[in-house]
Formats: sequence, C-alpha cells, structure tokens
Amino acid sequence: MNSQFPQRSPIALQQVPLLVFGAGAISSAEEHLRALGIARPLVVATRSSRSHAERLHPNAIIDAGIHREPTLEDFHRLLQYAQTVAPDAIVGIGGGSALDVAKLLAALADGSQSLAEVWGIGNLAARRLPLVCIPTTSGTGSEVSPNSILLDEAATAKRAVISPHLVPDAAFIDPELTLSVPPHVTAATGLDALTHCVEAYANNFAHPLVDTWALDGIRHIAGHLVAAVQAPDDIEARTHLALGSLYGGLCLGPVNTAAVHALSYPLGSRHHIAHGHANAVLLPHVLRFNASAAPQRYAAIARALGAPEYASAMDSARAGVAHLYRMIEETGLEMRLSALGVAESEIPSLAAEGLAITRLMRNNPRSMTQRDAEFIYRAAFHGREGE
Ligand SMILES: [Fe+2]
Repeated sequence: MNSQFPQRSPIALQQVPLLVFGAGAISSAEEHLRALGIARPLVVATRSSRSHAERLHPNAIIDAGIHREPTLEDFHRLLQYAQTVAPDAIVGIGGGSALDVAKLLAALADGSQSLAEVWGIGNLAARRLPLVCIPTTSGTGSEVSPNSILLDEAATAKRAVISPHLVPDAAFIDPELTLSVPPHVTAATGLDALTHCVEAYANNFAHPLVDTWALDGIRHIAGHLVAAVQAPDDIEARTHLALGSLYGGLCLGPVNTAAVHALSYPLGSRHHIAHGHANAVLLPHVLRFNASAAPQRYAAIARALGAPEYASAMDSARAGVAHLYRMIEETGLEMRLSALGVAESEIPSLAAEGLAITRLMRNNPRSMTQRDAEFIYRAAFHGREGE
C-alpha cells in the first residue's frame, strides 16, 4: 500500500464514450437524443427532476416514480412498464437512485436476462438499448460508473450489479441542475463523492491512473462543500462539487470503494439512512482506523483535504481526520448514529453484515476484524471525534 505502485496487475478503464460537462450541458442532451434519431425514450426521473425531463424530447415517456433509494420492487415495476411502452432508448435523470434504475433497465428491458441472473460482478451479457444519464445531484458518479445498487427489502440488504454494460453511452453533467438541491442533500451527496475519492486513493488496488482523479476530486469537494451547503445558488461551488463527483465516479469502475461503503450499507438497508449520510458518519472513524496501514497515502489525502501538514506522515494523517470531522460538522449533518435511529445493541450484527461485503472489504488497506468493525460503529454511535 505504501509503495508508489501498489497494484501491479493491469487496470481496465471503461469510459463513457461521450461526456459533456458544464453549465447548460442539458441542452446538449436534447441535441444528442435528436441526432441519434431516438423516437420514444423512456426517461426515469425523480419528482424534482421531472421539469428537466420534460424538455429532453417531445415524445419522452416520463416515469417520475423514484423517490427513495430504489428497491427491487421499484425496479420490477419499471421493468414491466418499459416492456409495455417499448422505448427505443433509456434516459436516467436525477440522483443516483434514478440513474441506477435507468442503467439496469436499459440492460434488462429486452427480457434476455432476469435481475436474479445478473447480481454481482460481470454477469450481464449485453445491453441493447442506448443509455443516457444526466445527474441532478453531485454524489454517486453513477453516470460514469459500471455499478447499480438496489435495496432488497426482503433480505434487508443492498445488492449490486456491476458490469461494463452498465456504463452509459453518454453522460451530461450540468452543475446548474444541482442549484435546487437542498443543503442536507448537498452535504450527504457531496460526502458520498468525497468517500469515493478517498476510498479509491487509499485502496489495496489503488493505481496511479486513478490516483490523479481521486486526489483532485478530494480537493474540489473539500474546498467547496461547505460553501455550497451554505449558499445553494453558488454556481462556482456547485461546479467544483460536480467535478469532484465526476472524478469519484470515474474511480468507481477501475478501483471501487472499501470499508466505509461496506459498513454503511447495513445502515441504509436497515434504517434508511441516506447513502451519503451513512458514509459521512463512518468516514472519519474508518480513516482513523486505516491510517497506520498507509500513512503516506492518508497524509496525501489530508493535504488534499486542506489540513495542516506535519513532519511525520502519521501526524499529518491524524490532522486530516480531525479536519474532515470538523468539515462534516460544518455541513450540519448529524454525526451520531445514536441520533439516527440505531440501537447500540445492533452494533455486533451491523459489524458482521458490513464485514460480509467482501467485494469491498478486500479493497480496504487495513484488514478488519469483527472487533475492529464494532469499535468503528461504536465510535460513530457516540459521534466521538476520536482519541
Ligand atoms: Fe457511494
């Protein structure tokens, strides 16, 4: 982990063929759909993105039914709808929830595979429908990633489909669409994006090709998150967050996340704590735990966060954690799991559930025991800044 090139096997970068970034990019999405000759796109939207969805195409079939982190039921309802209306393209516009559903829909609408067949990594055979994604929050980076996450309510677990076929054909990132995002959602989604960057940089599979995105993403988000929370119409701050979110999304395919995401999933599936908020609560505690496994890497993260630097990498890493903790507090997010509906008696089972997500835990620079994971949840339960 401390060497400059910790990952020696080849790295694959599966990119969105067309990426348009900047204020007004949504107009390019309209033009793109027209140029492709799309006649009847199905647009998966959220209630708050409906007005943007309406301008995308004169014959757009809009479903604005996604209003939470999507469940299997949400997906199956939309799959049935898609099979009835037979669109010639799928567009996702909204937060990560709408985009994740749109991506899976584009891959499974032709009925050649069922959802049950494609869970996990690399099980999707193909995607026939064109897929366009337009994020309206700065967080998941789903518009450029090969991941879709759904909530399996029966199993109380988040489940993932990961496949190069889920990378959209085109992504249009327009920071102006994020101006109406309320402060607490700006904070939670921004911290999700920050976590993507941090967990990609401090990762057993970290790679110099991705490190650049990760560190730059940290700088963009840490430098402007509080400003965007405090002044939602600050387009400059919004643009930095959108860039940070994009960089975080670009890290997800080739490297992906680690322990913060693994431990946050049970908080989302059991207590419906928003994904970014759950990550924010855990991030400083996991960083403190991980720091000794890769002090140089965590010192570089601390620098990118804007923390003061010390002669020893470990001291710098610790300063980074303290700096991060204060920054998250400044966004106003509740940092104590005890105040978010979690009972202390749940900690052992939360820890076991998080540790079982081995596809992410294997990426974590320091291996984690049940006892370690419980310690992290306990620190987050009390919201302690740490010793
Ligand atoms: Fe995330």
